[in-house]
Parts: sequence; structure tokens; C-alpha cells
Amino acid sequence: MSDVTLTVNGRQVSGTVEDRTLLVHFLRENLGLTGTHVGCDTSQCGACVVHVDGKAVKSCSMLAAQASGSTVVTIEGLADGADLHPMQAAFKEHHGLQCGFCTPGMIMTATDMIRRYPDGLDEETVRAELDGNICRCTGYHNIVKAILAAAEAMGKTGKGRKAA
Ligand code: FES
Ligand code: FES
Repeated sequence: MSDVTLTVNGRQVSGTVEDRTLLVHFLRENLGLTGTHVGCDTSQCGACVVHVDGKAVKSCSMLAAQASGSTVVTIEGLADGADLHPMQAAFKEHHGLQCGFCTPGMIMTATDMIRRYPDGLDEETVRAELDGNICRCTGYHNIVKAILAAAEAMGKTGKGRKAA
């Protein structure tokens, strides 16, 4: 068993988990943060993406014990009170979802994408960067449109250049 302590969405949480417990299961089952989804068992779908110490991570590919001491943000922690994050607002405005199953992971990936491309995002970069997120409903067009709209709203439209 492992004792884990981490900060999740600004709140310090602790627990004792089996060594094999994945971060995604700790978030969902111990903390009740069920916005982070499990859509595969091969680390391919991206439905489980959260931010660990500011970077997008597939939470099914990390042990809860490995995340101990880290700061985690899940989809539940993205909005500022009643105000949606610009990425959430753009997904809503541009119909970037149908069933919504992939959406939390898409949004967490997309917000990290904005961080990683300080010169802004273009369509080609967005499509390439969504490689690790699978949507089974939308055909991606409105997801890409939403991410580009959010980038514009955040002053991050341009030719993609990756941060060093
Ligand atoms: Fe993590 Fe599919 S559940 S990548
Ligand atoms: Fe249904 Fe993406 S909206 S899987």
C-alpha cells in the first residue's frame, strides 16, 4: 500500500491506495472526480487527460503513488467559479462535442497545447497535437474549430512553434 498526498484542483488530498492504483482511478473512485474518463485500456484514447504539475498527462498511464506530491488539475478545476475557461466556452460555442465522453480529455489536452505553443496555434498543429485523443462522434472538425477559437480568444493564434 502507498500513502499519497497531492493537491487536486487547489485542495490538498490524501489517501492510502494499493501500489498498483492508477491516478485516474484515484481521482474517480477516491475523490469522486468522475469528469476524468476511462475510454480504453491501452493508453490511446486520451479521455483521461489531466494536468500534473502543469503538463497534460494521461492519468491512466501514471500510478497514484507516482503523482504523490504533485499538483493536479482535472476538468472540474478548470472553470473560474461560474465562468467557464475560454476553452470550455469555445467547445460549447462551436459544438465541439456530441456525447461528451472524450470532451474532458480533449479540453485538458487543448489547454496544455496552448501553453506549449507560445507563438500560437494553427490548424495543422492542432490536428497533429490531437493525435493522442480519440473522438468517436464528432469527426473532429468542430473540436479543431473550438480549439482555434479558444486560441484566438486567448491571443494565441499563429504558426505553431513548440516551446523548448
Ligand atoms: Fe487513458 Fe484511454 S483511458 S488513454
Ligand atoms: Fe463522443 Fe467525442 S463527443 S467521443
